[in-house]
Amino acid sequence: MDIKSIRSLQEELSTLIGVSGHEDDVSNFILKLIEKENLADKAWIDPLGNVLVIKKGTDGKNKILLDAHTDEIGFMVSHIEKNGFLRFVPVGGWDQRILLGQSVVIRSQVGEKFHGIIGSKPPHLTSINERKKLVEIPNMYIDIGMNSIEEVTNNNIVIGTTGTLFSPFMEFPNNMVRGKAFDDRTGCNVLIQILRLLKENSAFKDTVLFNFAVQEEIGRRGAITGAFKLEPTIALAIENTTAADVPGIKEAEIPVYIGRGPAITIADKSMISSKRVNERIVKNAELDKIPYQFKKPMYGLTDAGYIHISREGVPSSVVSVPCRYIHSPTSLLKLDDILNTVQIINAFLRNKANI
Ligand code: CO
Repeated sequence: MDIKSIRSLQEELSTLIGVSGHEDDVSNFILKLIEKENLADKAWIDPLGNVLVIKKGTDGKNKILLDAHTDEIGFMVSHIEKNGFLRFVPVGGWDQRILLGQSVVIRSQVGEKFHGIIGSKPPHLTSINERKKLVEIPNMYIDIGMNSIEEVTNNNIVIGTTGTLFSPFMEFPNNMVRGKAFDDRTGCNVLIQILRLLKENSAFKDTVLFNFAVQEEIGRRGAITGAFKLEPTIALAIENTTAADVPGIKEAEIPVYIGRGPAITIADKSMISSKRVNERIVKNAELDKIPYQFKKPMYGLTDAGYIHISREGVPSSVVSVPCRYIHSPTSLLKLDDILNTVQIINAFLRNKANI
């Protein structure tokens, strides 16, 4: 496991389209990779679409769940105009201010990709007052270059077809990369790297369970069914979190920073993290000299919010890779932060500190 393999998997995972409820391309990619590399004792897709994975430990008393979500925010076609333009509704939490003029990519019902542009009434046809107002989604449309409702439906784009903002993967200086859907393909990347490390060094006491979970962005639904099925005794959600280390933000309001290592959640809007789980993360990180930071309370919510109240309760926490511009077309993160997140989870699992 090195920066190069993390970078190439990040590109592959982020380029896939998997809007909430339509994660098949991502789930199938992950399941195939696990089968091809023979990474698990058992791996399957559950009725909701989660990829569930079991890697058996030698004593198997403790069952540690690692969860990362496969879905990304996007949009769903809600109406097709007679002249071939598409109306849409958002899936997940978009910032409406950034949608207009964006390029989009749509995944047709048979998996074909089509490009489009989000438009609205052109500025030279609007009054000065209209131009001051925020254009809302019902007044936007997607132009995919087609001329009629028949042409659209013949190409298997129908009401309910989903898509997302188009954003190519690129490298920036200082080991930084930009791309779409880093929330939470980054977590999926971390989980796959952990599976590879477990395969390399298989003498491992605890059973490790994995949920590559669907439908996080619209209510963290896959986390609920996955945790119920797998029955963990401890759990960690691996996420991407808002690095607001940018101009104009007061230091007291910056939840996490790029480049300072994985961010450990103390409390967010969905959970107060288990103190013992956090102690196990921190003590093992210190033993192995892995950098980490604490995420300031109480921003965001994650799959762990439901996992920790599964069945009779599961001591849980969240470890996140800091990322700028989450829920915009393009996210920016530092590959070293992913590497250190893999290392902190690996140290947590091996538990040299014996907590
Ligand atoms: Co997320």
